[in-house]
Amino acid sequence: MKIGIVLGTRPEIIKLSPIIRELGELKNNSTKDIDYFLIHTNQHYSKYLDEIFFKELNLPKPKYNLNVGSASQGKQTGKMLEGVEEVLINERPEMVIVQGDTNSTLAGALASSKLKIKVVHIEAGLRSYDRSMPEEINRVLTDHISDYLFPPTENAKENLIREGIKKNIFVVGNTIVDATLQNIKIVESKKEIIEDILKVIPENKEYFLLTLHRAENTDNKERLNNIINGILKISEYYNIPIIFPIHPRTLKKLREYNLLNKLGSDKNIKTIEPTGYFKFLILEKNAKLIITDSGGVQEEACILKTPCITLRENTERPETLEVGSNMLVKVEDVESIIGAVDSMMNRSRDWINPFGDGNSGETIVNILLEKYKN
Ligand code: UD1
Ligand code: UDP
Repeated sequence: MKIGIVLGTRPEIIKLSPIIRELGELKNNSTKDIDYFLIHTNQHYSKYLDEIFFKELNLPKPKYNLNVGSASQGKQTGKMLEGVEEVLINERPEMVIVQGDTNSTLAGALASSKLKIKVVHIEAGLRSYDRSMPEEINRVLTDHISDYLFPPTENAKENLIREGIKKNIFVVGNTIVDATLQNIKIVESKKEIIEDILKVIPENKEYFLLTLHRAENTDNKERLNNIINGILKISEYYNIPIIFPIHPRTLKKLREYNLLNKLGSDKNIKTIEPTGYFKFLILEKNAKLIITDSGGVQEEACILKTPCITLRENTERPETLEVGSNMLVKVEDVESIIGAVDSMMNRSRDWINPFGDGNSGETIVNILLEKYKN
């Protein structure tokens, strides 16, 4: 069986790594006839959003790199669609695996589906029910053209069923648990990485970790300004360092809206470049609190037992709210941000991770092999 894997962004590389590793082992060690190849759209191309993850996660070099890079939504997706189609016509795999909700996900799924190649969607069924998010459009469309759907939770499966998708749905947990648990173990034995990241972490380990990149938060000047004001209030109220690895989209917008100086004038805000996965896991694990609008970071905070505040009005990860590891806050309402921070910091970290036991990659590959036999 030949399997194509389409990926393009930081979270896809991380969340597909357990599946790629599993397929790699089967290809090398088993008598089964398994082959796979990677198509990288290069939606992410900066070293710290791309190459560093292949290196740290020990992933093979993609067989194809489409070099699409950044562009408007339609242009970027269109270029990917064209590139993926060309590869698939030559390679003719039996299945194509896509993950998550990015433009690379949708392009990979659409190109495959039109060529009548089976589409496998990892992390299917997530819904924010907010169609203003490009990710929500990508999720819904990808789910509806997928042949095998792997929702992480029962809740995500229910979302699919409500939309009339009924066949070949397998609840398997989220591969982010595999990635987090495997890599936190690796990094804890890497002295040089720990020493390096400790240079950023205060000695008493009292700090908050902030990430921000969602289009709806960054691409509107007033909203981004409100978020920055909220962060500055938190810094003033708690007088605690806030470590902020800045996503390039956010850096560009902060510059464009003249907001970078405002952040820079606060001695508590420590802006740094985005870090590799190893360092980021250490930052997450040791933080007093994580403030984010990222999907994957909400999940990792829950897995690593660090309380999380999400700067959004909705989340497609409601399980984190249900178990109590995460809270949504309205960025316009500074009082409510402070209230949320207080309540999350005072809560005990005894929640149970709802995203599985860390064997999702293996389970998914076994199900696909079984399906292929039939
Ligand atoms: C994309 C995904 C988002 C995901 C995020 C992960 C879509 C619609 N969005 O958002 O769901 O959460 O990846 O981080 O697919 N840039 C660089 N270097 C890069 C890549 C981007 O500098 O390697 C800058 C460019 O200025 C670019 C901007 O970031 O215009 C946005 O990049 P883009 O790929 O469009 O979306 P992300 O915000 O990264
Ligand atoms: N991440 C990282 N370095 C950083 C910030 C994030 O390695 O500086 C990782 C993080 O551990 C998580 C993933 O990137 O696994 C989340 O990606 P992102 O927030 O870009 O996208 P989303 O999950 O929102 O789609």
